[in-house]
Amino acid sequence: MTERFSFSLLATDGRARRGEIAMPRGIVRTPAFMPVGTAGTVKAMYLDQVRDLGADIILGNVYHLMLRPGAERVARLGGLHDFARWPHPILTDSGGFQVMSLAELRKLDETGVTFRSHVDGSVHSLTPERSIEIQGLLDSDIQMQLDECIRLPAERAEIERAMELSLRWAERCRVAFGDQPGKAMFGIVQGGDLADLRQRSAERLAAMDLKGYAVGGLAVGEPQEVMLAILDETLPVLPQEKPRYLMGVGTPDDIIKSVARGIDMFDCVMPTRAGRHGLAYTRFGKINLKNARHADDPRPLDETSDCPAARDYSRAYLHHLVKTNESLGGMLLTWNNLAYYQQLMAGIRAAIEAKRYDAFCAEVTEAWAKGDM
Ligand code: GUN
Repeated sequence: MTERFSFSLLATDGRARRGEIAMPRGIVRTPAFMPVGTAGTVKAMYLDQVRDLGADIILGNVYHLMLRPGAERVARLGGLHDFARWPHPILTDSGGFQVMSLAELRKLDETGVTFRSHVDGSVHSLTPERSIEIQGLLDSDIQMQLDECIRLPAERAEIERAMELSLRWAERCRVAFGDQPGKAMFGIVQGGDLADLRQRSAERLAAMDLKGYAVGGLAVGEPQEVMLAILDETLPVLPQEKPRYLMGVGTPDDIIKSVARGIDMFDCVMPTRAGRHGLAYTRFGKINLKNARHADDPRPLDETSDCPAARDYSRAYLHHLVKTNESLGGMLLTWNNLAYYQQLMAGIRAAIEAKRYDAFCAEVTEAWAKGDM
């Protein structure tokens, strides 16, 4: 097993990339989808199941884990991998984004961000240095810089201020992270929907020679065309030989279109959250199991899937579980959804290797459009 964090490109097809991130805890096959394990658990799943579906890496969140159970406690208990029983790579988000969406009474300045916990109202601070310290205590393999992500639409001056602040925080995180050969700290491109700001952000981060780069501040209310246009403008500025991660994205359609533009890594709550809300992702599109039309339907979600949740349970039974709010409903649908996402990623990787990525995307899109459900 490798001692050093490294990224290799194994194949390309147009701008789509098939690669591999190697690090001491394992290999991440890219394009990769990282299931979200916010609080040290991928909700409604055993991590063994998550692994069996083909996940090479999961996500954790500084914000949630610093509040409960606390980063120092996780460190005393042997780090997040031992604590949660996931010995494979973990990427942690730095906390800024979750502070903005969840915490109360936030105050942000040059130093960092102070906020009240959404759990018990206690006051906490995150600086770039403290975020990296927490990610170190969790023993995270890929650590994210602290950044400021703003909602769109926003004024140019506001987008520029947050982007420049994020650049200064990237540099402080780079220094705080130091030299850790087996791990990586990724910078995050910000700049809203403004091409020149995105490019400036990407250029300045590229000059810091980080081990990987994320594109943040997307899927925050803008149409898909805007997100894709920003990727078209931003990715050519980032170094080709480093992994690129599109944060918080997305739907299966967002994923195939972003891979076509050169994204290597994704994370999103969509498959897990939607599963707990009665929605199934399948080869034929999205199925809402709350709908009464499933009440007498003996067919499984997808009889060709090798995931038991998709193959072995009738839609009528899943509908019943969802309608009666049984925990098993959320468990089975999350299982199905993560299986679908990982199958999609495996298909994407195989298609890039076979240099038939466009044809693959057309087939996937056609099956959704037929909506044979
Ligand atoms: N998750 C989704 N978008 C973002 C972002 O812009 N920054 C961070 N840190 N996390 C995110």
